[in-house]
Amino acid sequence: MEKKDIDWSKLGFEYRKTDYRFSAIWEEGSWSDGELVTSEFITLHEGSPALHYAQQCFEGLKAQTAKDGQILLFRPELNCERMQNTAARLSMPQVPLELFLHGVREAVRANAAWVPPYGSGASLYIRPLLIGVGPNMGLRPAKKYEFRVMVTPVGPYYKSAGLSLISLAVSDFDRAAPHGTGDVKAGANYPGGLYATRKAQELGANEALYLDAAQRRYIEEAGSANILISMAGNKLVTPKSAAILPSITRRSIMDIARVELGMETEERPIDLRAEVDSFEEVAACGTAAVLSPVGKIWFDNSWHTFYNKGESVGPVMQNLYDILCQIQKGERQDSFGWTSAVAL
Ligand SMILES: Cc1ncc(COP(=O)(O)O)c(C=O)c1O
Repeated sequence: MEKKDIDWSKLGFEYRKTDYRFSAIWEEGSWSDGELVTSEFITLHEGSPALHYAQQCFEGLKAQTAKDGQILLFRPELNCERMQNTAARLSMPQVPLELFLHGVREAVRANAAWVPPYGSGASLYIRPLLIGVGPNMGLRPAKKYEFRVMVTPVGPYYKSAGLSLISLAVSDFDRAAPHGTGDVKAGANYPGGLYATRKAQELGANEALYLDAAQRRYIEEAGSANILISMAGNKLVTPKSAAILPSITRRSIMDIARVELGMETEERPIDLRAEVDSFEEVAACGTAAVLSPVGKIWFDNSWHTFYNKGESVGPVMQNLYDILCQIQKGERQDSFGWTSAVAL
């Protein structure tokens, strides 16, 4: 199969129109089979709850080409489970696992020419969407929903390519309230963060870092990534909070740390100011960010640096990044059974 004529190494994290997307409709209690469509446009009724009340949610995962040419998905069933949890929280119908996987695989298979080749450093980003559509005025759930899977080839999320250091600035704004919707992937969780990100960028950071909204003490997460911290004693720690998105990348890295590297792993509240001096290496992790080492964090009017004064990537994060990427690209024995090939 001929790949598209693209300079894959120059791709950023941008939308690029591909040939097909998958669409299924829920109405009167059941889902249609779904089909591939070519138009990148959705015609929406002006009364759609997705537009007025943000009754919509999304997911994000990647497909990568292995050395042997197979296209690999990474734990897509966990994205489905998370989308089901989100749908329940937003009073939307759940997309059954079978339909979710079918939609993802079809969108990837039909756009195989857009999946970046092995070794290009790029991947195919897959964006499942669930939106409440149709005429509605009062604040109540939509009567009709579209499940759509669009895909686009992407390069690194943060501008500098490869495993380079990023910086975070603690935000004056909150991302999610305790008992709110921070633990699900509602689109409505994100626009408030655009301003927080801009403020962080004005301070010279790549992204905002949020603390818990109740006490502003404990680390929550970055705008679109969870946080990992290595500490003395071969320990990998990650924040425990009911208000953060349960990252699939994070769960995978914690397993890799424990099983492959023999690290002690812990999910617990992390008090930023009280514990910052014991942080050895820090990283942000997520489908888009993969594992991005954090060199420094801005808070209380100064930068706080980590491994090698924030000048270079530390060995723990380098190791975790390498193992995760090797598994995702089929370069390493996938003893966890996390990857699956898309039938072409
Ligand atoms: C707020 C937020 N946190 C964390 C993540 C990372 O989650 P995952 O590793 O499942 O991509 C994302 C991205 O999906 C996100 O939007």
